[in-house]
Amino acid sequence: MKKLLSVMLVLTMVLAIVGCAKEEGPETTTDQGAKEIVIGANIYNFGDNFMNGVVSPALKEYADAAGVKINIVDSENQQNKLNDQVDIFIGQGVDILAINLVDPASASTIIQKAKDANIPLILFNKEATEEGAMAMYDKVWYVGTASADAGIIQGDMMVNDWKANANWDKNGDGKVQYVLLKGEPGHPDAEARTEYSVKAFDAAGIPVEELAMQPDPNWSTDGGNDKMATWLASFGDSIELVICNNDGMAFGAINAMKEQGVSIPVYGVDALEQALNHIADGEMNGTVLNDGKNQAKAVIDLSVNVANGKDPIEGTSWSLDEVKAVRVPYVAVTPKNYADFK
Ligand code: GAL
Ligand code: CA
Repeated sequence: MKKLLSVMLVLTMVLAIVGCAKEEGPETTTDQGAKEIVIGANIYNFGDNFMNGVVSPALKEYADAAGVKINIVDSENQQNKLNDQVDIFIGQGVDILAINLVDPASASTIIQKAKDANIPLILFNKEATEEGAMAMYDKVWYVGTASADAGIIQGDMMVNDWKANANWDKNGDGKVQYVLLKGEPGHPDAEARTEYSVKAFDAAGIPVEELAMQPDPNWSTDGGNDKMATWLASFGDSIELVICNNDGMAFGAINAMKEQGVSIPVYGVDALEQALNHIADGEMNGTVLNDGKNQAKAVIDLSVNVANGKDPIEGTSWSLDEVKAVRVPYVAVTPKNYADFK
């Protein structure tokens, strides 16, 4: 019996090793004998609910549908870790790199590595902020959004709602006293959303007063919760609006408000499932669809084309702008239309 067990154990181990080798090895072949395309990809932080909850599963889904292999690793919010991961992917001979930068100001490091190895590179979600980085290499492209649009759309929603609800101006001074949860400092999305959401009030001739603003490199619910609790303690009733650059942080702010039994208008970005539920329950006033599924689709579409030696957007509905970027549009999500996004 013992012998049988140990034989079975050895067999299981051998099978596991064979299975792993097949899983990990980039140079696999399909049934037709053609070489399978392998994408080496990362998510900057598996703790991020939009990137890990929406983009990552969609990348897998579209890769499967296209019959290509994708290996997705967690960079744990460390650029050094990502640099090493890219070296490993290059060593494995992946066909394409699909990279979600940790530090948008370190794009050139990654682009140089891809260029030296002559491997095409698709950057996604976090746009390079270094001047000229995208021009360093003819085989690098970007998939994301037009960052400012989320702020513009969110700002318009807030302005319209403010105008429609005279009681939101609690102290009756005609100004919007707001707090803002920013997200990662230096991230083009965080910077542009912060700027343009507030600019919408300026454009409408409505004065604003920023009571407080807090960056959070993790865009996290916990961070949003802690900060909102602190703000409620220090500003109490004077907060009239909570602007959040993503839904994750808004969820935290909502928790903190619930704990104190208060309710202040709050807006996010991403349109996560939970945000739609909060809108349904009247706990959130609006969000902006950050179309992670289509961003993932574009990453896979471009990857497959490039790996097959084609033009990156051939046969797709995507277009590239002057900085080689596909920009998937944002959409306003309000109490009127949220059900369409479920
Ligand atoms: C933004 C998104 C945030 C966060 C960030 C990570 O586009 O709205 O929730 O995921 O990307 O880079
Ligand atoms: Ca006021």
